[in-house]
Amino acid sequence: MTRPIVELAGIGHYAPARILRNAEFQAMGLETSHEWIVERTGICERHIAGPNDTTASMAANASRLAMERAGVTAADLDTVVLSTATPDRLLPATAVDLQAEIDASHAAAFDIGAACSGFLYGLTVAEGLIAAKSAETVLVAASEKMSAILDWTDRATCVLFGDAAGAAVVRPARNGKGILSTFMRSDGKLADLLYRPHGGASFPMSAEVLAQRTHLVKMAGRETFKHAVRMMCEAADRALDNAHLDASSIDLMVPHQANVRIIEATAKHAGIPMEKVFVNVGRYGNTSSASIPISLDEAIAAGRIREGMTVLLVAFGAGFTWGSMVVRF
Ligand code: ACO
Repeated sequence: MTRPIVELAGIGHYAPARILRNAEFQAMGLETSHEWIVERTGICERHIAGPNDTTASMAANASRLAMERAGVTAADLDTVVLSTATPDRLLPATAVDLQAEIDASHAAAFDIGAACSGFLYGLTVAEGLIAAKSAETVLVAASEKMSAILDWTDRATCVLFGDAAGAAVVRPARNGKGILSTFMRSDGKLADLLYRPHGGASFPMSAEVLAQRTHLVKMAGRETFKHAVRMMCEAADRALDNAHLDASSIDLMVPHQANVRIIEATAKHAGIPMEKVFVNVGRYGNTSSASIPISLDEAIAAGRIREGMTVLLVAFGAGFTWGSMVVRF
């Protein structure tokens, strides 16, 4: 089958109203500063979920916009894929809560756990389902309530992340628009560099786990940074190769928004000037798998993605997982 097989028919995002600025961390008792955080990461502020924001409700808000823009209703959806590292409950999948919230009563629903690469993994699964004619209209949502799994006493992690959601409706391609190439890869041998050590089935929650805070995110920052740059660079190369394109054909690169230095290193390696790179990490922090659909939605709204443009998506996350995609809009 020749590509494009599927297109991103509509995209939406949602961010909670509460904004947490770098300057507020000191008042929370953390030894850090706005200058340190901005210089190392480019992050100035992030959204934090309010009492009524759940992973499913944030996904539903983003999904409603994506469906409206795609001109479909929830009754048209045959599959609901939700990427999240912050499921609302451990059982069942949060995708079924999303399905119930939007009333997609004819759909199959399941979660994808690929951390920050999850939106690209989800799009790739949607493409496969549609190619096999197992599905026709797939909602791919990515929603992350990172604030619920952070150790707010650990300055090396809690300043980096934010809460938000994004979503896209994936449908059979028309007029040559859609996904031109995909690439996905993982390396589980590096899993312990960015993880939540305990609280799952291998080491269930206990008073000791709670006291030690080992159910919360732990990260070896410097090691993670090195792998992130290497993997993002490989991913950018592979998506371009698989699409038989070079960097000069790319109108905009939309990378996972973890850290502006990782983004700059990836763009430099790929030969894409920063004017052609979408960056919003300053306003959102790292929203894990939600970062790419949020960025796509904002880039479309800002006129930086227009019809006919060729866009490179690149992601990296816990696992480690990494992946990329070239999409014609
Ligand atoms: N404020 C002030 N000082 C801090 C802070 C902070 N918020 N956090 C760490 N430090 C200190 C450390 O304690 C350390 O102090 P020490 O030298 O006295 O021990 C010093 O700063 C240097 O720490 P490093 O971790 O080596 O700092 P580095 O320059 O590597 O920057 C950072 C840290 C920003 C976390 C960087 O390593 C990074 O961006 N890593 C990648 C993180 C990432 O992108 N993760 C997510 C990717 S996957 C996903 O999106 C889920």
